[in-house]
Amino acid sequence: MLRPTAGKGPRPLLILALFLVFSLTAAGRTPSLRGCSIYILDPVRDLGQPACDLTSTRVWPFASASNKLQAAGPLQPWEHQHAVNYWTAEAIKVAGVRAPSLHAADLIFLHSHCYEQWRLGWWWERRGHNLAGLLPESDQYLRRTMRLLQTWPQWRESNGSRFVVSPFHPSTYTETVNAMRPCNSSVFSLVATHAQFCTKRREEHERQGLILPFVTEFRDRGPQALAGKRDMLLFYKGGCADPAARARYAWGKLQRLAFVTATKPHLGADVDVNCGCDVCPRGMNRNEMMARMQRSVFCAVLAGDAQTSRRQAESVLRGCIPVYIGPGFHTLPLAHAIDHASFSVFIRVRNVTWTMGANGANVGANGPDVGGAWYLDAPVPEAEIATVGDLGDVVGYLRKLPPQVVAAKQAALAREYHKFSYRARRGEALSGAQRIVLGRLCERARQWRARADVG
Ligand SMILES: *[C@@H]1O[C@H](CO)[C@@H](O)[C@H](O)[C@H]1NC(C)=O
Ligand SMILES: *[C@@H]1O[C@H](CO)[C@@H](O)[C@H](O)[C@H]1NC(C)=O
Ligand SMILES: *[C@@H]1O[C@H](CO)[C@@H](O)[C@H](O)[C@H]1NC(C)=O
Repeated sequence: MLRPTAGKGPRPLLILALFLVFSLTAAGRTPSLRGCSIYILDPVRDLGQPACDLTSTRVWPFASASNKLQAAGPLQPWEHQHAVNYWTAEAIKVAGVRAPSLHAADLIFLHSHCYEQWRLGWWWERRGHNLAGLLPESDQYLRRTMRLLQTWPQWRESNGSRFVVSPFHPSTYTETVNAMRPCNSSVFSLVATHAQFCTKRREEHERQGLILPFVTEFRDRGPQALAGKRDMLLFYKGGCADPAARARYAWGKLQRLAFVTATKPHLGADVDVNCGCDVCPRGMNRNEMMARMQRSVFCAVLAGDAQTSRRQAESVLRGCIPVYIGPGFHTLPLAHAIDHASFSVFIRVRNVTWTMGANGANVGANGPDVGGAWYLDAPVPEAEIATVGDLGDVVGYLRKLPPQVVAAKQAALAREYHKFSYRARRGEALSGAQRIVLGRLCERARQWRARADVG
């Protein structure tokens, strides 16, 4: 069990860390990480919670070659699309802002990666079964961890604002989300969509946490890797609603189906738009999908069951201009630090054919209100949002965009793409996304330190 003074600082690491902080700051690429001290709280080590072992195939069954959760081959826990907790913890370590003890920390980061990934293993083991009334051990332990933390003086004296949690998986049980970021506190949350915040309004996002991009397994290979011939106009591939059971699906999956259907007449040499996903039977090989994004000028980025998807980060990291189609717009992560409007295309469609109506069985997921709830997370100027009559007009609109507009977007993308990457460029300590997340955490740490110094 943890005592607030536990832990010793490993000195050589500290010196290396200080050096790294210095060189990163000197390079002028990082918001200041000075005066920032974050403790990585391990619920097993620090709170005596039950062990969690990612090398166990019960916890993480996806590392075997035959398992296809997400990728064509073995998938490591840190490569998984929701592994933002892992990459944030890595950033804290690599940047040298890790507090050697709780006592020395301004912020406390809950390292919940293992429990969060265990939930996926638990679901997988029981796939095809009725899970009603069952709760993964991982969620029991996470909730218990949060109950304990709320009794800590560090929590009570700061209203939770010294804590950072990551209820990122869009399908996290509501009660677990509520336990991780209690709405009567000011805990800071790393989330996938603003639905996971207590207060949904855009002006309230920054106060509550960060909306993060999905994790992809590929490394930032530098902007030159985005250059090259693009002989395709538009690419999309993603899981759609089943036309025979539309009411069961969420708004995003219905919109995908409508978009693919409306685009059929345009399919041809340079338009490649299809339903299907990389984990479905007969799904497209993942490397093939990435190669097609790299060949395409535009990639549609459409929400799914939740207001987000991995296709966004993949498109951007392949240099393909993201095309957001609404209403019911895909989430825009890290909106305080990414100039989305500079490299993206936004299209509003007047004739919304993909909502299920106000009295449907699944109205919370696909009723007309979802379109408004899934608003743009960044203040995109109205002038940057095109309006077309029907979904079928999207291709024509993209085809007519002046070449200089497209070139400017591609140039902006080459500047901004790295902010979607969790894996640093060779020779660099931190990736673009890690720098932004850490910069924000350090800002909070300094705020707390300033208040504590006064008080
Ligand atoms: C906040 O809510 C939790 C339950 O979610 C409760 O246990 C806790 O006592 C509350 N804290 C305050 C300060 O009201
Ligand atoms: C704690 O934070 C919540 C959310 O920001 C706020 O509503 C509440 O009033 C705060 N409580 C205290 C005691 O500051
Ligand atoms: C909207 O789209 C549907 C399906 O394509 C079409 O049948 C309908 O006529 C369109 N409505 C308007 C007002 O254009």
